[in-house]
Amino acid sequence: MNSAEIPAPYGTGSQQGGTPSSALPARIRVHHLQAAKDEGRRFAMLTAYDQYAAQIFDEAGIEVLLVGDSAANNVLGHATTLPITLDEMILFSRAVAGASKRSLVVADLPFGSYEVSPAQGVESSVRLMKEGLVHAVKMEGGKHHAETVRAIVQAGIPVMAHVGFTPQSEHSLGGYRVQGRGEAARTVIDDAVALAEAGAFCVLMEMVPADVAAEVDRLVAVPTIGIGAGSATTGQVLVWQDMAGLRLGKQARFVKKFADVRTVLSDAARAYADEVREGTFPGPEHSF
Ligand code: KIV
Repeated sequence: MNSAEIPAPYGTGSQQGGTPSSALPARIRVHHLQAAKDEGRRFAMLTAYDQYAAQIFDEAGIEVLLVGDSAANNVLGHATTLPITLDEMILFSRAVAGASKRSLVVADLPFGSYEVSPAQGVESSVRLMKEGLVHAVKMEGGKHHAETVRAIVQAGIPVMAHVGFTPQSEHSLGGYRVQGRGEAARTVIDDAVALAEAGAFCVLMEMVPADVAAEVDRLVAVPTIGIGAGSATTGQVLVWQDMAGLRLGKQARFVKKFADVRTVLSDAARAYADEVREGTFPGPEHSF
């Protein structure tokens, strides 16, 4: 089956593709993502950090919403993901989880919230589930974190593993660089396999050569998600501000801009300011 023939998992939010609404799951769960992989279907994940983005993407049929620690760069204005705290992640998670009806909501364990011990990983994950109201957590790192993944899964919390380029380790990785080229492919593959064996329900790969990601997808039974990892993974993820064209500046090679929301917002702000200055807004219909 080539990629053009692979149907979307459940149609979109408007039930395109003829899927009757009664056939749509009320809430996407990890077993639906596993079914997508088993049946050769693909799914989409986008980041979301606030209620409106969450509502819009949920209604658009995005299967997974990621409350990424990329909120650090994309909402809070930090240069990296490192400064965001667990308390801040909980705040963003609550907004997204509260606004979504159908998507599976996954939150990142931020830097410093799981590295000390498996017990720390469990405690932080419990807070994301209990206070952030998310349905699963995502954790960066390789096979050295297998024990932590196992402990979190044993606590009843689904874990998405994140391998390849892991932004929380950007200082030790020497910046934003593709991981797994040449002999380093073995490391990415071993990490993915070890974390899947530890119980991760899904393996996300960031900035990994397409052939390496395809090999991981072949080797692990669980679904895979790619960002800069080619097209062979079960799912794809993008940061929503990149996908919608909100962010200025040079974009990573793996980003595709599907809209120009920055121009739409900018035009709206200018039109508003013009009307205020001209005295045409507010009009009688906006006044009491
Ligand atoms: O935090 C995030 O947005 C992520 C994606 C880049 C996968 O981890």
